[in-house]
Amino acid sequence: MNNSTVIISRNLGQDIADAVAARQHDRLFVLTDTTTLQLCWPLISQLPCMASAQMITIGDTDENKTLQSLSHVWTCLQQGGATRHSLMLNLGGGMVTDLGGFAASTFKRGIAFINVPTTLLSQVDASVGGKTGINFGGLKNEIGVFNNADRVIISTDFLRSLDTKNLLSGYAEMLKHGLISNEQNLNELLTFDLDEPDYTALGHLVQVSVGIKERIVEQDPTERGLRKALNLGHTAGHAIESLALEKGQPVLHGYAVAWGLICELFLSVGKCNFPKDKLRQVVQFIREHYGDCPIDCKQYERLFNFMKHDKKNEADNINFTLLGGIGDIRINQQASKEEIFEMLDFLAFKI
Ligand code: GLY
Repeated sequence: MNNSTVIISRNLGQDIADAVAARQHDRLFVLTDTTTLQLCWPLISQLPCMASAQMITIGDTDENKTLQSLSHVWTCLQQGGATRHSLMLNLGGGMVTDLGGFAASTFKRGIAFINVPTTLLSQVDASVGGKTGINFGGLKNEIGVFNNADRVIISTDFLRSLDTKNLLSGYAEMLKHGLISNEQNLNELLTFDLDEPDYTALGHLVQVSVGIKERIVEQDPTERGLRKALNLGHTAGHAIESLALEKGQPVLHGYAVAWGLICELFLSVGKCNFPKDKLRQVVQFIREHYGDCPIDCKQYERLFNFMKHDKKNEADNINFTLLGGIGDIRINQQASKEEIFEMLDFLAFKI
């Protein structure tokens, strides 16, 4: 798998024009969802390189990350005369870059694609690292391939139109990157003013965060070992997210990850001697910004079941990534049902 070039853009138009020019192509397709078509496409639609672009639009939100949407994209590519030498530009959040990346990777066995992520979550996580795919059979990201975008162009210009909840959703992945890397980055994140964000400072934090992810992915692109570090907070987080979806009260991915971080740092204290003062500091930040996780003890069995069916598991074990300290990553950790219920008590009852 080729590496993609990740660009922290100071001039979005120029960087997109350069990326499109750098990849010889016969036709250009731009994939958006209904929201990014309205809010983000106008920022680049006037570029000369976009004059002949053919637009493909799918519904927004994760509910549209389906085989039907994928089929719609393939159909548009086919009817628009796409060949193996065509180029696709995915303009949107993680749903668009994941689904678009998968559509491009499979159409005629693969055409090149560029990701232009427009949410904080997709900038620091989804669009970088080559994971593409769709939800299937009620499971998130069940079908997909590892395949890198030609380029990933990250511009904080898009973040100015992002609401606070979506900003916080992406920020949870940045906290995760801080936790698995170093104290300095974590402290910068814990002291950043999220209520009145300084977008220049946020841009710097995004750059550092993406760099942390890139360094890990470079060493382990297909998640055989080290890349599992990026799963910190996600075993519990995915269970919380799935439960919320099942109850018909979906939560944003990053909120579930933030609550998952509370859970898995608690486990880390018990199992890997993660320092308690750091746990308190991170938990306080998360509770203050993300509020309480809407679960109670009647749902523990269901959460446990979701964890048992997590695709990150091996054999019958529930697999966690834990920490012995900031940056001290311990992959493939297991916990008993009793330990998992204690962890959920800590999350639900703050004990
Ligand atoms: N979102 C975690 C990863 O890319 O591995």
